Amino acid sequence: MSDGGTSRASVFERGGARKTAEGLTYLSGFGNEHSSEAVPGALPEGRNSPQRAPLGLYAEQLSGTAFTEPRAHNRRSWLYRIHPSAAHPAFTRTDNGAIRTAPFTETVPDPNRLRWNPRPEPAPGTDFLAGLWTLGGNGDATQRTGMAVHLYHANSSMDRVFSDADGELLIVPERGGLLLHTEFGLLHVEPAHVALIPRGVRFRVELLDASARGYVCENYGAPFHLPDLGPIGANGLANARDFRAPVAAYEDVEGPVEVVNKFCGNLWTATYDHSPLDVVAWHGNHVPYIYDLRRFNVIGTISYDHPDPSIFTVLTSPSDTPGLAGVDFVVFAPRWLVGEDTFRPPYFHRNVMSEYMGLVEGAYDAKAEGFVPGGGSLHNMMSAHGPDRETFDRASAAELKPQKIDDGLAFMFETRWPVTLTAQAAGAEHLQQRYDDVWQGLERHFRPLQ
Ligand SMILES: [Fe+2]
Repeated sequence: MSDGGTSRASVFERGGARKTAEGLTYLSGFGNEHSSEAVPGALPEGRNSPQRAPLGLYAEQLSGTAFTEPRAHNRRSWLYRIHPSAAHPAFTRTDNGAIRTAPFTETVPDPNRLRWNPRPEPAPGTDFLAGLWTLGGNGDATQRTGMAVHLYHANSSMDRVFSDADGELLIVPERGGLLLHTEFGLLHVEPAHVALIPRGVRFRVELLDASARGYVCENYGAPFHLPDLGPIGANGLANARDFRAPVAAYEDVEGPVEVVNKFCGNLWTATYDHSPLDVVAWHGNHVPYIYDLRRFNVIGTISYDHPDPSIFTVLTSPSDTPGLAGVDFVVFAPRWLVGEDTFRPPYFHRNVMSEYMGLVEGAYDAKAEGFVPGGGSLHNMMSAHGPDRETFDRASAAELKPQKIDDGLAFMFETRWPVTLTAQAAGAEHLQQRYDDVWQGLERHFRPLQ
């Protein structure tokens, strides 16, 4: 294996007891026309598909958008590989495990506020794919619209390779580091970072710790991109250069490799006679990324009131209605609160959008307890929610001096349609039974004759 600067040995032999992928080389920038070659001369110059590709490689285009979509939205990459992707035997159906796909019809949409504790420990030998568990979602994967919320909990690295034809995967680790072996190269992702695997890109997940768990947003819709900034100006929120793409790396493996393909909601498997992670060079903009959420440039008030959480949007998947996202990925990163005469935690609200929230570390400033790392909450369309009583009482009486919130990292998948639960999420033992009690005891303070 070669990876254009960092050998596999260097990845795994440094760092003492814990495996580490520090020292990997990355390309900087979101949406760039990146290019990389693991072997000098592997990338053709001046054309995409020469009569004979360099070094005896096969040229192949991978399209993430229709050929004809506008240039600003068009996503495609050219891959130069040892074997063409077409060289594989027939796929056959395999067990879907705990993975479910839209349309979600196992339960009726639930208007209640719902919250889950972390999922229980998986059985030994559970890899990322086997440990993927679907909470719910919306839309229709075959129509390339909507999204799914998954959680993963794994204690074994993948020997097999996975690709998802149904959507891109935004991986939000909460515990344990991951080394992602992708067709485009290696990505190291840790809690407080996220990884974005585009639709159709093959990868496998190697665990850097004894176990790993976190969240996944499967976006069936238009690829995530950076939100427009409007009057914020040219900079701010997630800065494009902080997204990092891999450099080319390839596996020259001849021998049986299981490849699992998620297609229209089902898992299909085939045993290749080679590793499909055999891309020696590539160029394009349909590429995987990692991003450090701590680099998010948090914008907020410096006068009064609490802006809508959309100002914390890291990535957005647009719909066919301007300003209406299929799904937004939003982060509540460390920040200062300075608002004068302002109730500073997130306010009471009802939202036409539906909100799934998770917690990577620490605590969230609207909930004093019960919302824990690895757990999550769902506030579906128009459900009333906001601070719990303890938070309301504290924030209503707080001295409004500048306050740093730096003990938590929460995030939200905010989506245009209600999230319908899977049967396993609706009936899970780790579903909290008395979440409504969070809003009990909010006292009546109304005094009309003050
Ligand atoms: Fe909310």
